[in-house]
Amino acid sequence: MNVNFAELSRQYGRFQQEYEEAAMRVLRSGWYILGKELEQFEKDYADFQGMKHCIGVGNGLDALRLALTALGIGKGDEVIVQTNTFIATALAITENGATPVFVEADSYFGLDVNAIERAITPKTKAIMAVHLYGQMCDMDPIMEIAKAHHLAVVEDCAQAHGATYKGRKAGTIGDAACFSFYPMKPIGAFGDAGAVVTNRDDVAEGVRMLRNYGSKIKYQHELVGINSRLDEIQAAILGVNLRHAGECTAERCAIAAKYCSGIQNPKIQLPAIRPECEHVFHVFPLLCEDRDALYAYLEANGIHAQIHYPIPCHLAPCYAELGYQKGDCPCSEQYAAKELSLPIYVGLTDEEITYIIDTLNRFE
Ligand SMILES: Cc1ncc(COP(=O)(O)O)c(C=O)c1O
Repeated sequence: MNVNFAELSRQYGRFQQEYEEAAMRVLRSGWYILGKELEQFEKDYADFQGMKHCIGVGNGLDALRLALTALGIGKGDEVIVQTNTFIATALAITENGATPVFVEADSYFGLDVNAIERAITPKTKAIMAVHLYGQMCDMDPIMEIAKAHHLAVVEDCAQAHGATYKGRKAGTIGDAACFSFYPMKPIGAFGDAGAVVTNRDDVAEGVRMLRNYGSKIKYQHELVGINSRLDEIQAAILGVNLRHAGECTAERCAIAAKYCSGIQNPKIQLPAIRPECEHVFHVFPLLCEDRDALYAYLEANGIHAQIHYPIPCHLAPCYAELGYQKGDCPCSEQYAAKELSLPIYVGLTDEEITYIIDTLNRFE
């Protein structure tokens, strides 16, 4: 049997009529950028979040980057961020001319609360909490530390649409929350797309201007902005996926539950679920001492897994000049050496799930 890591065509097939209606509506409208579709999606996504503002942008990296700009973070500032994240989180900091201060992850793959205070200096301006794999960071202590030190908090929600922490949704706790709608994300577009969600009027206004050449009024450029707009076709497609987000997340969670009860191999460690949290399982991350052997074994059996992520940001060659060394964040380095993500997506069949479980249980 062959099981791919992702099969977006299955979700497409399930909601095909709605997607095609949405796309055709835009094509026929003659209006493709900054129109009614985006306005509607921004309203619907803000409602989904229970928040005041949603501003659509071109992708998740721009959401992070523009949120930091709107928060006034730039040259000479430091931003504390967990090292076990996709490089985009860090790039958003360096694109603003600020310096990332990489810290450890906790046992749930989130930002290690105990590492934050040690990393604070007079230059620290913000903390970025990445709700990695679909599970939220321990937000209460993070917010307490931020408050005590007057720091902004940016939630990187690129993998955690709909996840909750003590009943509160990802993206509703910090000063700004940044979403990616890259096609494979829990809510995805059919191309690049992203959004910033916030209750702060100043941040919303800043991002709204920055994404459109720094202007509120055409040809009046108040800020040095960029071009990063969520286009009308993607907004219309996202409207469909937002309507189905609950059922798609429930389907991934049901697969995760099958993995958790079915995988019984002492060589494989299942992901820990943080108490009082709802995971949305964008990724199903296993840990295994013999990760590379497990990866090769699964490949040989037609199961395509992935590694998220093989190199923690503090050791990424692009940040070599920051001077981090191997051993600086041992827990995150262990994750980079041991993590393996299983296929988990809408339309994965029971037969495929059983095959994956049985194959994993035979791994020696
Ligand atoms: C944690 C995290 N942050 C940011 C991003 C950037 O999103 P995008 O690919 O839409 O720019 C991603 C997406 O891959 C991500 O996983």
